[in-house]
Amino acid sequence: MKVSIFGLGYVGSVSAACLARDGHDVLGVDLNPQKLALLRSGKAPIVEEGIQALTREAVESGRLQVTDDVTAAIGATELSFICVGTPSSANGSQDLSAVVRVSEAIGGALARKSAFHTVVLRSTVAPGTALELIKPALESASGKRSGVDFGLCFQPEFLREGSSIRDYDHPPFTLVGGDSPVSIEALRQLFGHLPCEFIATDIRTAEALKLVCNAFHALKITFANEVGRIAGALDIDSRQIMALVCRDTRLNISPAYMKPGFAFGGSCLPKDLRALMYLGRARDVDTPVLSSILPSNQIHIESVVERVLADKRRRIALLGLSFKPGTDDLRESPLVALAERLLGKGLRLSIYDADVSLSRLIGANKQYIEDAIPHLGELLAESAEATVKGADIVIVGHPLAAVWEAVYAHATSEQLVIDLAGNGDRARMPSNYWGVCW
Ligand SMILES: NC(=O)c1ccc[n+]([C@@H]2O[C@H](COP(=O)([O-])OP(=O)(O)OC[C@H]3O[C@@H](n4cnc5c(N)ncnc54)[C@H](O)[C@@H]3O)[C@@H](O)[C@H]2O)c1
Repeated sequence: MKVSIFGLGYVGSVSAACLARDGHDVLGVDLNPQKLALLRSGKAPIVEEGIQALTREAVESGRLQVTDDVTAAIGATELSFICVGTPSSANGSQDLSAVVRVSEAIGGALARKSAFHTVVLRSTVAPGTALELIKPALESASGKRSGVDFGLCFQPEFLREGSSIRDYDHPPFTLVGGDSPVSIEALRQLFGHLPCEFIATDIRTAEALKLVCNAFHALKITFANEVGRIAGALDIDSRQIMALVCRDTRLNISPAYMKPGFAFGGSCLPKDLRALMYLGRARDVDTPVLSSILPSNQIHIESVVERVLADKRRRIALLGLSFKPGTDDLRESPLVALAERLLGKGLRLSIYDADVSLSRLIGANKQYIEDAIPHLGELLAESAEATVKGADIVIVGHPLAAVWEAVYAHATSEQLVIDLAGNGDRARMPSNYWGVCW
């Protein structure tokens, strides 16, 4: 394919050299004359393993050329990548001025081109940028319609400096959000050979994913470092601990616990987290990330309380009480915490949990619930159906099929169903539906 690349920094230079290596004709565009001069002489403008040899071969073969003429670059190619910088502004938002300027320039060039063209944004941007900023810039400068006269895609770049050529060839997946099937197919032609899945999604999801991935990587590093500081203070080898953490691919390095839903709780997670934080505190080790986990969890519960209170109605059905389905363990259950908060606000609660029966509760579990909800017996209902029928608001806490069937069968259009379980079928919901974070 004939491809132009706008912005010849780390991402643009690596993409240019790799695409030329893969047999495509690449035209690089940058504002910086020094970068253009370096590339013209066969030298890469960045330091990166393998990039000098790859760039030299690409330039010598004639498959990589550079220009500062945007119109010529758009006219001579069928697809353009935007790889300009999106640095942080003082308030943490992204400075999108370079992305907008380059889009206006590309739009101006599109006005003078009759053939269909694909524009692919690869710079990291916040969700909404492509559709709310780039698309209008391209459309108003070109007088053409995105998705019809030209295609607009967002494709996050997953390369890391230092190993970028290897990362270019082995991404976790190729993710493309786009408004034109022709453009998505063009990207499949460029990247479909890579040893990974090619996933087409919507543009905003693709934009969000890159930010979320990088935030997760930063979180992982900080988690490991906080564990390291505590372990160091305890004279335990943190590298061995974290290596063992990673050996558990069932619960640790796995999709487990990675689904947005309701707050966590139970008899182990909060207790053991507090114990770990205490070990640090007792040795003057600050662990701000670990320390913010329980407050964040509480905010999650409060968001549901606020939603219920905003409704102004008083009769609440709570389906599920134990910290997860299939157990009657109520200790530190977030659903018990929610019930406590709602009762404290003077709301009328009816609770159904097939696994919780007062007569069967014993020991620490019984003591816990007697302290938290002293009159629980009066609030427990006989069936999910009875609970749903008498309520204004139905809160589903456990992802159980039997519970949902009762909701689908008996909820009415006046009721509000709040889904904390994460598996409600909106299409079968006769009532208003609100997912706790979706
Ligand atoms: N560096 C990485 O490892 C990496 C990885 C993934 C994603 N990203 C994202 O990719 C984007 C680019 O990152 P980078 O590190 O390559 O940036 P960079 O600052 O190294 O390069 C940006 C280039 O764009 C050029 N430029 C600016 N305005 C231009 C215009 N109007 N026309 C043509 N060229 C123009 C600049 O001269 C510069 O050469 C950023 O959004 C970044 O967040 C970077």
